[in-house]
Amino acid sequence: MGILPKANEACWCGSGKKFKRCHKNAASPVKPGKVSPLRPVPDSIDQPAWAGGNPASRWDEPRVKSPDVIKRMRRTGREAADVLAQLGALCQPGVTTDEIDAACHQSAIERNAYPSPLEYPGMVAPFPKSVCSSVNEVICHGIPDDRPLRDGDIVNLDVTLFREGVHGDTNATFFVGQVDDLSRRLVQVTRECLEKGVEAAKPGHPINNIGRAIQTHAESHGFGVVRDFVGHGIGEQFHTDLQICHYYHPRLTDIMEPGMTFTIEPMITAGSWKVRLWDDGWTAVTADGSRTAQFEHTILITDDGAEILTTPSDKTSHPYWTLAAATV
Ligand code: MF3
Ligand code: CO
Ligand code: CO
Repeated sequence: MGILPKANEACWCGSGKKFKRCHKNAASPVKPGKVSPLRPVPDSIDQPAWAGGNPASRWDEPRVKSPDVIKRMRRTGREAADVLAQLGALCQPGVTTDEIDAACHQSAIERNAYPSPLEYPGMVAPFPKSVCSSVNEVICHGIPDDRPLRDGDIVNLDVTLFREGVHGDTNATFFVGQVDDLSRRLVQVTRECLEKGVEAAKPGHPINNIGRAIQTHAESHGFGVVRDFVGHGIGEQFHTDLQICHYYHPRLTDIMEPGMTFTIEPMITAGSWKVRLWDDGWTAVTADGSRTAQFEHTILITDDGAEILTTPSDKTSHPYWTLAAATV
């Protein structure tokens, strides 16, 4: 559960005002809710190793992908982006995150895809649902439950599909009804952080250029960058050993090469970037209860830059693109 400041302590938003004179009334911490039973996946769908509660096998996957893997990743990435855009339409007051999970699950199956989070192994228990839903101070890996979304919430939905033997991983933060200015700014800046990270992704340059670009942008707006979760190599496996920090990490000097595929997924906070984990072993919240946002793409390093593999068929219904248009 999010730990909020005491009434007379400084507000998490950095206003310098006492918490009770600032965001106290807006803040109602997210609590664990009721999680519905496991949704089955038909046998006709190709499933990753962990489906059915098995351990995830790990192997040495080449960082530079074959043209055939890239072709398949482009298709899976687009399907994942289309599901994400579709789920965004459900982010309305009164809709539960479990209803959003049901829609994700069904949409994945209709596209002949396995929802990769389902039964993905964790330290306490496998992830029990098909999408991660992270509300307000939840940084990532929130478990869909019976909590209805409320007017003023921000909610991140993280969709990963496994299809044609490869994963596509993408997320976005959505507004629920009327959202306060600080939260809007946070979401906008987080979207820009992902854009700046993608712009810094080009062949011949060290991978820590990405984190530097993201950190510079977030901190120039007074926001924090979460350290405990990073972007990752992706392909035939959901997570490979390749790590993409969203802050400047001097030792991450591996040079980006054409054909590499990985995610960039900055988590940006209005207050502290320190993390607390719920007892479920998944739900990560900000230590101070401040709000947090995230955007994620799976990208491919090309000969002269990067291609976003999680590009939807229709950019006009996807917040990564519609929010960009809204600022000009
Ligand atoms: N999609 C998340 C990521 O961006 C991982 C979720 S793992 C899960 O890496 F098990 F929580 F789904
Ligand atoms: Co990811
Ligand atoms: Co993800």
